[in-house]
Amino acid sequence: MSSDTVTGGVEATRGGSDAVAVAENGGKCILETRGVRKSFGGVVAVENVSIRVPQGRIVGLIGPNGAGKSTLLSILAGAQVPDAGSVWFLGEEISRQNPVKRARKGLTRTFQLSGDLPRLTVLENLLLAAPDQRGEHLWAALAGKRVWKRQEEALVIRARALLNRFDLRKHEDAYVSELSGGQRRLVEIMRSLMANPRLLLLDEPFAGVNPSLSRRIESHLIDLRADGLTMVLVEHELGVVERCCDPVVVMAMGRVIAEGTMGDVRTRGEVLDAYLAG
Ligand SMILES: Nc1ncnc2c1ncn2[C@@H]1O[C@H](COP(=O)(O)OP(=O)(O)O)[C@@H](O)[C@H]1O
Ligand SMILES: [Mg+2]
Repeated sequence: MSSDTVTGGVEATRGGSDAVAVAENGGKCILETRGVRKSFGGVVAVENVSIRVPQGRIVGLIGPNGAGKSTLLSILAGAQVPDAGSVWFLGEEISRQNPVKRARKGLTRTFQLSGDLPRLTVLENLLLAAPDQRGEHLWAALAGKRVWKRQEEALVIRARALLNRFDLRKHEDAYVSELSGGQRRLVEIMRSLMANPRLLLLDEPFAGVNPSLSRRIESHLIDLRADGLTMVLVEHELGVVERCCDPVVVMAMGRVIAEGTMGDVRTRGEVLDAYLAG
C-alpha cells in the first residue's frame, strides 16, 4: 500500500457532511489529526502531525524513544490538548473534548492498572471500568461481590463474556496483584473493552510480557480487528508491528518521517537513520 492511504484524500473530504471521511482506497477513516503540535516548555514533543486512521485497521505508531508517540496518543485520547492543529473522530472535531466524552463516543485508551486496582479482583476491575460508573460502585465492589452482583447483572454478563474470550474466566476472582505481567496487560485491554470502543489506543501493551503471552495478546488484537475494532498501537517490537499493523506511521523528533506498510517503511533511509540515531 502506498503512504497515500494515510495522508491522501484529506482535502476531498474536509468540510463535508459525511460523518466519516473516505480514504483514498475507498475505506473509511474514523480518526484524523491535522497539523497537531504539542510542546512542554522548550521541548516540542509533537510537531505538525497529520495522520489518518482507516476503519478496521491496526495503525502502528513507531519511532525511537522520545519521538513523541505517547504524547500523540495522549492527544488522541484527550489527556493532552494540542497547542495547534485539530483532532477529528467520526467526522467531528474533538480537539478539546475530555477523555470521558471521547470514550462515550467510542474512542478510548488502555490504562495501566494503578492505585487500588491491583488490590481488586479481575472481575471487580472490569465492572469498575464500565462507562459512567460512579464512586459508589467502587465502594460496593470493595464491600463484597454480593452487593453489586444483582444491580449490575448486565455488566457482569459483559465482563464474563470478555473473560471467556480472553481465557481468564478462571481468574475472575483472583486479585490483579497475583497475576503475571502479561495477564495484567490483558486485564488492561479488557477494561478498555468494557466501554465498547470503536477505536482503541494502545501504548506498548507488550511491555514486560514474555514471548508466549505476547503472541497471545497479539492474536487477541487481530481477533478484535476481525470483529471491527480499529486500533492505534504504539509498539517498539517491530516484529509485532509487521504482523499486526497496516499502515505504519514512523515518528522521530516529534514529526512523522514515513508512512506505509512495515515492508515499505523499514527500508527507507530516514527511518533507518532515525532508529540508529535514537
Ligand atoms: N509531560 C511532559 N512534560 C515534559 N516533557 C514531556 C512530557 N511528556 C513528554 N515529554 C517530552 O516530549 C518528548 C516526547 O516524549 P514521548 O511522547 O513520551 O515520546 P515516546 O513515547 O515516543 O518515547 C520527549 O522529549 C519527552 O521528554
Ligand atoms: Mg512512549
